[in-house]
Amino acid sequence: MIICHCQNITDHDINAAIDWMRASDGKTIITPGKVYRALGKAADCGGCMPLFLSTMRSNENTEVPMQLRNLRSATTQEQRHERRQESH
Ligand code: FES
Repeated sequence: MIICHCQNITDHDINAAIDWMRASDGKTIITPGKVYRALGKAADCGGCMPLFLSTMRSNENTEVPMQLRNLRSATTQEQRHERRQESH
């Protein structure tokens, strides 16, 4: 099924790009921009983005790698500790 009409990208193209990126780098965060780049194309009108993202989300290889999850909350807690005033 055609997902992006401007660039003639199918759901198969998106899934193949995602699977290729995950196979070549297990820690990469996969974004729509990276998928376009992997396919040698660039977004034009952006009208396909909701369907493009939905197609990406249906591929289990799009998930953020386990070792990269919760980094934001860990960083936030670290900053809180650094800002805490010592009471002695
Ligand atoms: S339909 Fe995908 S960029 Fe226009």
